Amino acid sequence: WHIYLAALAGGYLLGSVPFGIILTRLFRAGDLRKIGSGNIGATNVLRTGRKDLAAATLVLDAGKGLAAVLIAKAYGPDPTVFAALGALLGHCFPVWLKFRGGKGVATYFGILFGLAWPAGLAAGATWIAVAALSRYSSLAALVAALLAPVYLWLWSSQQFAELGVVIGVIVYLRHAGNIRRLLSGAESKIGGGKKADD
Ligand code: G3P
Repeated sequence: WHIYLAALAGGYLLGSVPFGIILTRLFRAGDLRKIGSGNIGATNVLRTGRKDLAAATLVLDAGKGLAAVLIAKAYGPDPTVFAALGALLGHCFPVWLKFRGGKGVATYFGILFGLAWPAGLAAGATWIAVAALSRYSSLAALVAALLAPVYLWLWSSQQFAELGVVIGVIVYLRHAGNIRRLLSGAESKIGGGKKADD
């Protein structure tokens, strides 16, 4: 059992590194907690106006999920599941931020690429397509998270697809505020606070 605990704890530690907070503080780009949604992820880093930092946050937050999965994969599929869950929980509930972390989207993409790269590509393409059509980062993430278990089932294993369902539930719970805003029309779009169609 110690291997599972090590995978969960190692994944959690990796996932708990809040790159959005670190980068925006390092480059004095503003206080993420007081900007936009208040979230620590790449979408909210973009609202500081620093596209470069947003891109770096996306890559690094994805990278920690990818790293956790790739390391654990050497020990087999069961530790991989624990490491992936640990990384996602670490990002969403980091001890360093009093457990008030992010929504798990970038980290989940990294996890998907590590579990099965075609599933990662398909989820990434889904995100891009929905974001291009709707301009909503949150909606793009919600659709991608909904379809990711299907992609995992197609290109990896039933076990990883079940992991995708569990992670999907966490991602949806973390987006409760976004879902409310999407339904009421108050969600902010990518690239500006104003609605594109008004
Ligand atoms: O990655 C989180 C994204 O889906 C929504 O971010 O800042 O608009 O709540 P945000």
